[in-house]
Amino acid sequence: PSVRVKVPGTTANLGPGFDTLGMALDIYNFVELSETSQGVTVEVEGEGASSIPRNESNIVLKVVRQVYQQAGKNPTGLHLKLINEIPVARGLGSSAAALVGGAVAANELCGNFLSDQEILEIVTEFEGHPDNVAPALFGGVVVSAQVTTSKGKEVVSRKIPPPYGMRAIVAIPEFHLATKKARGALPKEVPHRDAVFNVSRTSMVIMAIIHNDWDLLGKVMEDRLHQPYRMSLIPGMADVFEAARKAGALAAVLSGAGPTLIAFSRENTGGIAQAMEDAFAAHGVKCITKELKPCP
Ligand code: HSE
Repeated sequence: PSVRVKVPGTTANLGPGFDTLGMALDIYNFVELSETSQGVTVEVEGEGASSIPRNESNIVLKVVRQVYQQAGKNPTGLHLKLINEIPVARGLGSSAAALVGGAVAANELCGNFLSDQEILEIVTEFEGHPDNVAPALFGGVVVSAQVTTSKGKEVVSRKIPPPYGMRAIVAIPEFHLATKKARGALPKEVPHRDAVFNVSRTSMVIMAIIHNDWDLLGKVMEDRLHQPYRMSLIPGMADVFEAARKAGALAAVLSGAGPTLIAFSRENTGGIAQAMEDAFAAHGVKCITKELKPCP
């Protein structure tokens, strides 16, 4: 038996919604998984082909094994093939997509023993936070949180449709930025007023998306909890944001932990991509730009 799963990339945070908001985009990783008569082999094509491990340290293989274990099965052999369109270590959810793909593929081969909620929990455990995992699994815009109830820890998530006609312009720098490093730049404590600033903006981003309120969305995608601290890791970040807005974008933010910067626009994206590319170039950063649509 063999399965093939297609999983979207994601942009986490959407500005203020640190570790909480995420949106699926129309760029994909494919995971193929087959049960074989013996041995374990891993193949990687596309993005990350030169760096992703092909042995037991491969995280997708680890999640596959965990799903089999939870289903009480032990495959005699496995062949795992990763076909990646999502650039690695750029803040576009490539690891969440690969992990979700591995978990969903393994679950199918195990007769769909686990629910989507169980897959969400397993993959969030691997990732550390649910904001990329949930939209990679469910599509759309997903609000997620790790909560503790009387039964223990749980990941809660709710999906809302992406704004109709939204376009995302991503400027993907050449260089990699590990999420760990980008999280290492964050302070242990933040001023109370900055926390309040983000609570209000995050709530408003959700309302703006629910109501397709472009005007509101353009005013509230601001952040004080992570972007200011990550600015020094991404040369030209503030200038690229400004260039995108001047070229007509509603807002521009850091995609996940970066280094990709993402601008949002309604339908017509005009010269936004070029403006972002030029602003990065002025700081000596080469980037690729793409126009993506939210993936419903
Ligand atoms: N919310 C996470 C961060 C996304 O900004 O660090 C990265 O996976």
